[in-house]
Amino acid sequence: MTATPRFPIFLHGGDYNPDQWLDRPDILERDVELMRQAHVNTVSVGIFSWARLEPEDGVYDFDWLDQVIDRLWQGGVHVALATPSGARPAWMAQKYPEVLRVDEHFRRRHFGERHNHCPSSPVYRRKVHEMNTRLAQRYAKHPAVILWHISNEYGGDCRCELCQNKWREWLQKKYGDLETLNRRWWTSFWSLRYTDWSQIEPPSPMGESSSTSMQVDWRRFSTDQCKDFLIAERDAVKAVCPELPCTTNLMERFWDYDYFSLAEAIDVVSWDAYPAWHSGDDLATAADFAMNHEIMRSLKDQPFLLLESTPSQVNWKPVNKLKRPGMHLLASLQAVAHGSQSVMYFQWRKGRGGSEMFHGAVVDHDGRGDTRVFRDVTQVGEALERLQPIYDLPRAKAEVCVIYDWSNWWAVDFAQTGHNRNMRYFDTVNMHYRSLWEQGVSVDFRDMRACTDLSGYKLVIAPMLFMFRDDFGAKLRAYVENGGTLLTTYHSGIVDGDDLAYLNGVPHDLTDVLGMRQAELDAIYPADEQSLVMLDGRTFRVTELCAVPEHLGAETLASYGHDFYAGVPCLTRNAFGKGTAYYLAAKVEQAGLDAIYREIADRLGLTRALDDKLPSGVVATERGGVVFLQNYSGKPQPVTLTDAYTDLLTGEQAVGTFEMPVNGVMALQKA
Ligand code: GLA
Ligand code: ZN
Repeated sequence: MTATPRFPIFLHGGDYNPDQWLDRPDILERDVELMRQAHVNTVSVGIFSWARLEPEDGVYDFDWLDQVIDRLWQGGVHVALATPSGARPAWMAQKYPEVLRVDEHFRRRHFGERHNHCPSSPVYRRKVHEMNTRLAQRYAKHPAVILWHISNEYGGDCRCELCQNKWREWLQKKYGDLETLNRRWWTSFWSLRYTDWSQIEPPSPMGESSSTSMQVDWRRFSTDQCKDFLIAERDAVKAVCPELPCTTNLMERFWDYDYFSLAEAIDVVSWDAYPAWHSGDDLATAADFAMNHEIMRSLKDQPFLLLESTPSQVNWKPVNKLKRPGMHLLASLQAVAHGSQSVMYFQWRKGRGGSEMFHGAVVDHDGRGDTRVFRDVTQVGEALERLQPIYDLPRAKAEVCVIYDWSNWWAVDFAQTGHNRNMRYFDTVNMHYRSLWEQGVSVDFRDMRACTDLSGYKLVIAPMLFMFRDDFGAKLRAYVENGGTLLTTYHSGIVDGDDLAYLNGVPHDLTDVLGMRQAELDAIYPADEQSLVMLDGRTFRVTELCAVPEHLGAETLASYGHDFYAGVPCLTRNAFGKGTAYYLAAKVEQAGLDAIYREIADRLGLTRALDDKLPSGVVATERGGVVFLQNYSGKPQPVTLTDAYTDLLTGEQAVGTFEMPVNGVMALQKA
């Protein structure tokens, strides 16, 4: 499968803002030359160009963009063409204030900044439709244009009157009648009962903000609002040219919207990755970003695009460190190893002003093509050309599925329990994922939608799956009954899809499957001592959360080491139907999870990217039969390979024992 059928090549390039340099035609000339030198083949254009494209209401100016796209194309550079809805011109905000968003305090935004439009505004929708249609009519058939970059990093929500009405319509459609809503939102609590739809407002610190069922619904509604807006943008360009694929750039750890749902509206998933390398533990950072990449691949189970990353440093973190030598290639190829068909940057060239004038770029203010960063970028361009043979080959087929679900994330975060509002869902899932990633085991992420099919997996992991929506407990139960292996944890199966607590024992639907029941949930302080003690005495630290379980007959693999529940089972295994179900009662340190998953992987015979044992910090990831060996340890590492390989990046042989440099990366193909 290829994300960009008009140009089925690894994309290398980035956000390009020639509209900031319209009085400097020499810069465009120079850029095209530098792009060729840097092996850049694609740039994203027009992302924030509305003020240049429509300088006055209804007055359009595409001449400058014609010239830019034609010039790029002459230079062999392709274009991901953006729709400019991420920011709008001052005249529009002034003339039609309704295009601006209303915040959670019910205050209308003023002009400025970006990503702050109202998704319901009929005026904004009309203007966007008009703009997108014109862009499509003018450029969709241009040979340079290979992809629609719809808007930019959609996020947030709006509480204007129009959006409030949409919210009430959405609720009416979902619940039918008020009595049902009152029941499912549990509104007898604190006299929250509604007697008329018009009484329902969006959650707000000015009004109701503690109703968790309402909060979770608001996030679902906001997802649908964004999706509806995205679909309108997409349909405008597709009406002109149905075959040109659409993407919108997603973000890491992004909480606002359910990306599984949003991804249904686009042809290709793309995202923006900004890891904080060298901030302490690069292996942990790499595990975090590996999971982000894996989620992006999993959203549509397709190759994705890395649409933004920095060639050197960002300028919006508290500390903006440069990538150390080697890290640019390593981080870029991590994306490729996980299924990306591109390595793209923010930004091609630094502007002279604006808040991003010091954000890393391929080309710095001095416009030179002989800098360290430029050489790093060129190296990635060359590497992508060498890797073209695996361009449309997928990631190794996953035998493991991790359940990762946005409704669950919101429900976990809104629930007042345990470590109140600090339950760290993403981090928790990441710890489970990391154990498998470090072992070179391929993993899919799936959510709880009805379409999720677990039957093909040897192992399903459901960490902290507090909410079971869409009858997911029954699905997990059937999966185990039919021979699957499940691992679930504390704080799982506690509420249904409406965020209402289950009444007949938790994890719901699974107490007999697990042979365990969560009786209580303990939250402990950082200084508290607690541990998971394996049968053979290996002991691992436990932090944050401990379910105090009732033992219903599962086989005990480990017990708690301290406190009033010392000796109570903490890790169990239970045979159920044709399958097996593990229950992990507490948040155990990474080394403990590693031990648990090593044993499970051995027991199930899970396929690893490489059978050879690798030093800690060196990770193997397989795509298209090529093993990407990545050294995140911050030190040179000795590696011993049993088989003989060729490193596609250098063409050299890799056999026996050799040393991988700091931040080293290799693309090994069996010789
Ligand atoms: C985001 C945006 C870009 C730019 C970069 C800076 O990803 O999409 O426009 O602001 O961040 O890192
Ligand atoms: Zn609105």
